[in-house]
Amino acid sequence: MKAAFIERFGGPEVLQYGDLPDPLAGPGEVVIDVAATSVNAADWKVRLGEYKHTKFPLVPGRDFSGTVSAVGEGVKDIALGDTVFGVCEAGQEGTYAEKVAVKAGIVAKKPSGLSHVNAAALALTGLTAMSAIEDTLKLQRGETILIQGGAGGVAGFAIQLAKHIGARVITTASAANHAYVKGLGADEIVDYNAQDFTQAVANCDAVFDTVGGDVAQRSFAVLKPGGRAAFIASGAQAPKPQRADVTALRPPVGRARRHLERIVELYQAGVVRPPEIKLYRLSEAADAHRLSESRHFRGKLVFQVR
Ligand SMILES: NC(=O)c1ccc[n+]([C@@H]2O[C@H](COP(=O)([O-])OP(=O)(O)OC[C@H]3O[C@@H](n4cnc5c(N)ncnc54)[C@H](OP(=O)(O)O)[C@@H]3O)[C@@H](O)[C@H]2O)c1
Repeated sequence: MKAAFIERFGGPEVLQYGDLPDPLAGPGEVVIDVAATSVNAADWKVRLGEYKHTKFPLVPGRDFSGTVSAVGEGVKDIALGDTVFGVCEAGQEGTYAEKVAVKAGIVAKKPSGLSHVNAAALALTGLTAMSAIEDTLKLQRGETILIQGGAGGVAGFAIQLAKHIGARVITTASAANHAYVKGLGADEIVDYNAQDFTQAVANCDAVFDTVGGDVAQRSFAVLKPGGRAAFIASGAQAPKPQRADVTALRPPVGRARRHLERIVELYQAGVVRPPEIKLYRLSEAADAHRLSESRHFRGKLVFQVR
């Protein structure tokens, strides 16, 4: 199969495009002929060596959408020819390829009305946004939430979900992305380049931070007493608040099929529409990583594999 892979850690230039052996479906697994996969920030962190992988060649990538081309022993609920989508299990990479083997239990059927490209764009972003907004922050109708980094993939899903719940949504974005985040439903937009968000925003019930670093730490300032904040760009632990009257949370992002099915439901109900997408070929993986690593673009970068 063709794949984009690395044989050592480093910058985007270490990404190669070439032939690797086809994966086999082990017990409980299916092989998926990948039609589309998307770039997540984790992919370039993997490429840089931040995730302690030790085996090369290493194929990055976590989201997949495609067609089942082999079924391992014991798999009963997924069949040859099913169109499916999903996210590799935590710790597994490998979707920047024409084929990937994954546990059958973590794939969901993809309806025909959802394209492979959109499914690959919505998978990990959707799992992450739902985990943060619904399961972790438990956002309620009438609450106010600040979503940091509104033009990104996860935040774009989160804005739409928070509006669906009935919350008031404030988000941060650079001026070029204001029309985009308004279109997703944001009620108020802070141009973080022109204004300090801690001066512009106050009294929030919740914060969802997708930016990390200093932005994450400073986000506690906008919470009302008793407020809660969820962080996905600060590593495995939420940053520690410097005030005692708020809660810092780190969403666990599971891969269960029922969560993928909920993405489909939200999409089919018109609650969530796919993000803006920039398409690449797998042979252009280095270019896609350069843009993702710049952290200034809209929506998702997706590889159309076949
Ligand atoms: N399982 C997990 O825990 C999990 C899953 C998915 C993602 N993540 C993490 O979540 C983070 C977000 O990922 P993502 O793919 O949604 O987006 P991303 O690629 O990290 O972010 C892109 C967006 O961030 C915005 N941005 C950059 N700096 C900003 C700032 N200072 N203030 C406000 N917005 C800013 C950019 O918009 P502008 O051009 O307008 O600045 C751009 O649209 C990443 O760190 C990723 O690793 C974690």
